[in-house]
Amino acid sequence: MMSRFRQESVERVKEATDIVEVVSAYTDLRRSGARFTGLCPFHDERTPSFSVDPQEKLYHCFGCEVGGDVIRFVEEKEGLPFADAVETLAERYGVELEREQEDPRAEELRKKRARLSELLERTAGFYATFLREAPQAARAREYLAARGLGEEVLEEFGVGCAPGTWHTVLTRGQQAGYSMGEIEAAGLILRSQKGSGHYDRFRSRIVFPIRDARGRVQGFGARALLPDQQPKYVNSPESEHYRKRRTLYGIERARREIAKAGRAVVVEGYTDVLACHQAQIRDAVAVMGTAITPEQVKLLSAYAEEAVLALDADRAGREAMLRAQGVASGKRLRLRVARMPAGKDPADLLAGGDGASATAFREAIEAAEDLPVFHVRMLLDDADTSSPSGRDRGLDEVVGVIAAMPDSITREELMREVGDRLDADPGLVSRRVAGARRTETAGSSTPEAEPGRVAAPRPLSGRAQREMYLLAMCVRLPAEGRGYVERLADEHFSSPVAARARAWLRDHLDEPTQGLSRDDHELVAYVTQVKMYSEREPASPEAMELNFLELEKARLDDQIAAVEANGGEPPVELQRRRAELTERIARAHS
Ligand code: UTP
Ligand code: MN
Repeated sequence: MMSRFRQESVERVKEATDIVEVVSAYTDLRRSGARFTGLCPFHDERTPSFSVDPQEKLYHCFGCEVGGDVIRFVEEKEGLPFADAVETLAERYGVELEREQEDPRAEELRKKRARLSELLERTAGFYATFLREAPQAARAREYLAARGLGEEVLEEFGVGCAPGTWHTVLTRGQQAGYSMGEIEAAGLILRSQKGSGHYDRFRSRIVFPIRDARGRVQGFGARALLPDQQPKYVNSPESEHYRKRRTLYGIERARREIAKAGRAVVVEGYTDVLACHQAQIRDAVAVMGTAITPEQVKLLSAYAEEAVLALDADRAGREAMLRAQGVASGKRLRLRVARMPAGKDPADLLAGGDGASATAFREAIEAAEDLPVFHVRMLLDDADTSSPSGRDRGLDEVVGVIAAMPDSITREELMREVGDRLDADPGLVSRRVAGARRTETAGSSTPEAEPGRVAAPRPLSGRAQREMYLLAMCVRLPAEGRGYVERLADEHFSSPVAARARAWLRDHLDEPTQGLSRDDHELVAYVTQVKMYSEREPASPEAMELNFLELEKARLDDQIAAVEANGGEPPVELQRRRAELTERIARAHS
């Protein structure tokens, strides 16, 4: 377990951070009074509704209602977990982070990891320099150039070359002060059969450093240079520090674009990623030859709603894609499949310099089919349609897949297609699917709604607006506000988050955004909005009273409606209080 940062450290990072500078990487900001405003980097808009408070280090969009502090902004925009977002800002603004008291073992482990990480980084640097400069790497340079990979993209991904010698990396590591044990733990050397000596793991190969989302080298994949060199790839060994199944090659370069576009293009190998990025397909990452794993799906779903699988179209590739369906089921990630021409991978199509095949690749990505559709078509391709029994078997196979799809036009059309291709009556197809659905849903529960995503802009209702304004005025005028946040109850609010915000403000009216739990994104966004409104909107005790009365009336209306919904007659007392309120509101308006 990583130890947590001390709260003071996190606060110091926030203090040191220039939120305007951070946000300006994503949108142009202009000063407007004490604030900065600009077009929202979280949703498409023409007029600016995004506001940044440089003192409090807060951001908020009045259009799509996202908001939080500068750390949250980095989490969202750069697709980083909290601890990584804090570290990134700490590095950028030169703040030394302190951790909560660490037990000595954990601290030792972290230091060990940091040393390994540094060793991997140096070694990656060595390979890259060797590729760029060494006369012995001329062949590797020619090979890469012949495959259409330019210097720029090689540089960007830190692609390198391992020399053909046996001890270069070992010796350099030792000279830099690393022990044999450390160099071995980093996966850079191997012990010889006789057990006496060690030698470099990667030799005479093109080396691809594999990095985590923050760009820290985790391991290497090393491709043979010569056709007869076996195996084609030598990879860093799996260890407690490096697990291929948790890593996506290229994620450090792709994550921003993935977060921005909500989409990732998933390819098979290193060269595919390079070719994609060179062709400005900047959301490409690779699964490195294996079927996509649950860990990779999880990693992707942190940034993207949708992953387009652009994997080899051979049988193994198709099987891998279908396995992905199982892996992603129940996750938020929507999987689609781009059909590649047989025998070609993205690197072949893109790097060849042939404009037509690059265009074909792009079109295949844009025209990607939903995975279930792809699956059904694949089953239809394989079905024996020459006999009724063959067509029956085909139908048996597809109904389950279709039944698992949500109701949609896509599904309707697919059922028609099945009918056509199996020469079956459309009524039969839909009856079979409906039957499969009944057995399916009998045992399963509905999936939960996914919390915490950036929502599409949705205007607040009149009542929700009023709740927000009242709370904002309570923050603005705390002397009066204190009484209101005490008197208000959950039933005054039309949404749970607004009710929770009221409860929070009761105890934190002076510093509403301080100390909020980071995990409660909804509350953070809401309270940030309250704070932003409090500074922007005028407030007066009269307006507060009026809004309070309106909320009180809304609460009575809810109670009356609840009684009526049960077929009852609302108690006279309720009706009397409502009439009284209506009158007071009318008086307050005049
Ligand atoms: P490919 O064989 O398609 O290689 O394997 P490639 O990366 O496209 O290389 P080129 O374009 O032929 O030069 C796809 C991925 O599978 C993993 C690697 O991550 C590779 O990029 N792989 C493949 C291995 O790990 N080991 C192997 O021996 C082969
Ligand atoms: Mn390939």
